[in-house]
Amino acid sequence: MLQTTFATRTAKMQLNAIREILKVVNRPGMVSLAGGIPAPESFPLALMQDLTTTVLRNYGATALQYDATEGFAPLRQALVPHLAAKQVTASAEEILIFSGSQGVLDALGKILISPGDAVAVEAPTYVGALSAFNPYEPNYVQVETDEQGIIPAALEAALQRQPIKMIYLVPTFQNPTGRTMPLDRRQAVAAIIQQYGVLLVEDDPYSDLRYTGQALPPIKHFAPDHVVYVSTLSKTFAPGLRIGFCVAPGEIYRWLVIAKQGVDLHTSTFNQALAAEYLNGGYLQQQLPKILDIYRPRQQAMLAALDRYMPTGFRWTEPEGGMFLWMEGPDGLDTEEIYWRAVEKQMAFVPGKFFFAEPGMGNATMRLNYTMANEQTIDWAVRTLAEVIEEAGR
Ligand SMILES: Cc1ncc(COP(=O)(O)O)c(C=O)c1O
Repeated sequence: MLQTTFATRTAKMQLNAIREILKVVNRPGMVSLAGGIPAPESFPLALMQDLTTTVLRNYGATALQYDATEGFAPLRQALVPHLAAKQVTASAEEILIFSGSQGVLDALGKILISPGDAVAVEAPTYVGALSAFNPYEPNYVQVETDEQGIIPAALEAALQRQPIKMIYLVPTFQNPTGRTMPLDRRQAVAAIIQQYGVLLVEDDPYSDLRYTGQALPPIKHFAPDHVVYVSTLSKTFAPGLRIGFCVAPGEIYRWLVIAKQGVDLHTSTFNQALAAEYLNGGYLQQQLPKILDIYRPRQQAMLAALDRYMPTGFRWTEPEGGMFLWMEGPDGLDTEEIYWRAVEKQMAFVPGKFFFAEPGMGNATMRLNYTMANEQTIDWAVRTLAEVIEEAGR
């Protein structure tokens, strides 16, 4: 009999409770507002053949060879103007390519978090970040948020209470709430992290998916030496290619490279070459408006349906971009109970409590995705959700 004992950290990787309850979502006929993935029709499928030919012509065997851990040089170069447009100043040598931004989060956990270290997160936060950090055994410090994201005074109070190893934030079109921190909050957080000398991980997968309003500079812009800026091409090219990247202050950059080397040596050279050609050929600029034209009306359909069908006592965010909105019902509502009732009617969403680092919060909240279903289906799903809520006596 196999005598394997698992590492103590393995217990921290406990099966994600969201995964467990979402298993039913793949049943035939289910309309899911639960997913967090891009619509397949947003992918530049027709372009892929040409990109593949271009990669083989331009790079030949190099695209199939081992490559530098830091990333494929033409992609790092192509990301310089991409980042500059977002007001992140970085040379190619300061950019590090990872297998998805998820890969960056894991590497940051690995090089920074010792068991018991405090990691400050928003309440609620991105569960994938918790999954990435959990094996390194942090103590989470949940910081209060409001409709404008993290509250700077609450962050400062947390920093005064205890030493914090790092802060993890999604300031733009946050997953799960869709909220965006306004300019003054970004500046306030930048000032706080500089004052306390603390590291911020700024995760920015969604800022390109802006449907209305003005783009905002990332916090990295205001405090470059205190922020690891993390982003991805998953939402604007193809998530299956696993192209994420970061810009990190010097010492952290060096250790990230060493950590990544031990994990996968480097991200797929071929996929990085595809990404380089996608950016260099100006295809992102061509594709992005098409992606926005798919998502914008879906978001509008969801907001209109919520207005039309939801009973009083419910409120929801109205994000200017991204893939999600966040709804909160009256005190005492249990959205996991609503979830199981909705599933019986072939409709699914994610109960919000799973996005909190500490148990017992967010019972009356839920995350709704509007990128995967078309407008008609979204209308049906929201109407069904409202009916289920009414039937449950709310
Ligand atoms: C906030 C956030 N960070 C990171 C990721 C992971 O993205 P990637 O595909 O680049 O690993 C996601 C994906 O949904 C996300 O919502």
